[in-house]
Amino acid sequence: MEEGNFDSDVLPTEERYHLGISTYRSTYEKSLSSPEEFWREASSILDWNRPWEKLLDDSNPPFYRWFTGGKLNVSYNAVDRHVRSSRRNKAAYIWVAENGDEKIVTYDGLYRRVNNLANAMKNLGISKGDRILIYLPMIIEAPVAMLAAARIGAVFSFVFAGFGSAALADRIEDSKARMVITADGGFRNGKIVELKKTVDEAVERTSSVRNVIVVRHTGHEIPFDDGRDVWYHEVVPNSMNFVEPEVMDSNDPLFILYTSGTTGKPKGVVHSTGGYSVWVANTMKWAFNPDENDRWWCAADIGWITGHSYIVFAPLILGLTSILYEGSIVYPAPDRLWEIVERYRVNILYTSPTAIRTLMRFGEKYPAMHDLSTLSVLGSVGEPINPAAWKWYYQKIGGGKCPIVDTYWQTETGGFVIAPALGLGLPPLKPGSATFPMPGIDPVILDENGKEVPSGQKGYIAYRKPWPGMFMTLNNDPERFKETYFSRFPGMYYCGDYAVRDSEGYYWLLGRADEVLKVSGHRLGTVEIEDALISFDGVVEAAVFGKPDPVKGESIVAFIVVRPELHSDTEGVAKIRLHVRENLGPIYVPDEVHIVASLPKTRSGKIMRRVVKAVALGDMPGDISTLESSASVDEIRAAIEEFKKQDV
Ligand code: WTA
Repeated sequence: MEEGNFDSDVLPTEERYHLGISTYRSTYEKSLSSPEEFWREASSILDWNRPWEKLLDDSNPPFYRWFTGGKLNVSYNAVDRHVRSSRRNKAAYIWVAENGDEKIVTYDGLYRRVNNLANAMKNLGISKGDRILIYLPMIIEAPVAMLAAARIGAVFSFVFAGFGSAALADRIEDSKARMVITADGGFRNGKIVELKKTVDEAVERTSSVRNVIVVRHTGHEIPFDDGRDVWYHEVVPNSMNFVEPEVMDSNDPLFILYTSGTTGKPKGVVHSTGGYSVWVANTMKWAFNPDENDRWWCAADIGWITGHSYIVFAPLILGLTSILYEGSIVYPAPDRLWEIVERYRVNILYTSPTAIRTLMRFGEKYPAMHDLSTLSVLGSVGEPINPAAWKWYYQKIGGGKCPIVDTYWQTETGGFVIAPALGLGLPPLKPGSATFPMPGIDPVILDENGKEVPSGQKGYIAYRKPWPGMFMTLNNDPERFKETYFSRFPGMYYCGDYAVRDSEGYYWLLGRADEVLKVSGHRLGTVEIEDALISFDGVVEAAVFGKPDPVKGESIVAFIVVRPELHSDTEGVAKIRLHVRENLGPIYVPDEVHIVASLPKTRSGKIMRRVVKAVALGDMPGDISTLESSASVDEIRAAIEEFKKQDV
């Protein structure tokens, strides 16, 4: 992150966004001073079966409950109400396959699909409160499955289709999913990604799953268990089977999404029905100010929170048209993204700094091959965006006329917490700053001791007040919820990031303050990767850390101690990497694996990851007085020297 001069470099943006920020300021102030009135209006973005009575029940902190007494159904809000309006024949999704095929699904088409799948799920015995797991590629059935679950009140957990079988099994186990919805496979870089096979391996290790619904997508041969598996097309007919939407309580869970933390066990972040939906729909409106006829493309994967909130729930609640693309952004050529923008005349593009930096490396000739003039707003998410990438995006993609909406948020926050609010008046932008908090968000930057730091000084970002989109708890682990997020700075939500607030009140997000990595925008836990490494027979110890990477943000480096038989195996490292890939998924595979005889440890035997990282990156290792022996430090240095030699 180039921290540099926070106050300069303000770029002009298009005339029509020069609304100033007075509307933003007054809206923001009202959200904090008159929350009741503010949220009464903001929550009318949804149709409620019964209006809420109390805005916030904070009688049992930190288990905050929003819009209590309110009843609603999210699938009704995302689909049914549009079908009864002039949006009936409007495209909800324009699906684009990697091979260029397209499928347009209207709101009416989505309505039929959601009802039919909801009906099939009911016929297979799923009812309100049951958990189901979705493991699908970026195809129409993905949002359909999420909405069908919401329709019947089943809590879904969507697992990113790049996860391996052990990661999937952990999530099935923790969520106690009774059903899995998957596909035979997906497409990526012109190849088939096996999905059903991975599901089979994961389900075998668990005991809760009764049925697996399989979408035929790739059409390749897959194993099929007739007693358990059913084909999607056999249970979901084309005719229409209406299913009455279940009337849900505002604080019934809508979904569980697993994310990485500082221990090996992923955290099941639980989001609510009412608060979450109000939050995502409003934040999308505030930040991006989409027009009814805009084409919106959030190029994230549905399996992450960005996809949940801004490919599925927010755009559908708002009745917008989204692009849904299955495939790589550089396949078959590095102009793929720009080609799709041109072909579908996309108006708002929302992607990650890693994607921008990747495409930037290929040079401006690729975007220059396409007409990108329909773009009016560009978004960024998932990791800090460095000013150089910001400027390239702004100039080469947006033609110097599209505001960059850098949205800062987390799986836990449900939707944006800090982002320019175009819909409320665009502030002058500063490349690399996510600007100001969304209405309802009350951030503060603290030092080690919980004291607020002066402007311009780096500290930990925390929040003094809850907001409607904030997660309700961690699945099966309310204690960990309290401990992880609310104990560091009592009474506040602490999210694990560093930030600076400059003299003009702009927020600059500076990355994780804990043992969580951001690799290509993917949130990974160092301990998760270490656990996967030592689950390989022959690996005795492991220390994993993130190394700054100009494209991916961070790359994964592992130092391991192995038993002698593995030491002499020339294929050893390749086998270890494959093991991580199959268990956790390709995004977890370390970029560098170094074998050493020992790792630095404290006298009580704890591996000092901090020291490994500092030594390997050539930084001062800090206080190593508790180190058991310094031999391991020398060895790390030697391993890195050796690696550098090979790398040239
Ligand atoms: C990081 C992704 C800087 C941050 C939506 C956070 C960002 C973590 C930004 C959450 C941004 C996300 N600028 N950092 N605009 N957006 N982050 O849960 O470290 O996958 O804590 O949610 O991503 O990652 P998660």
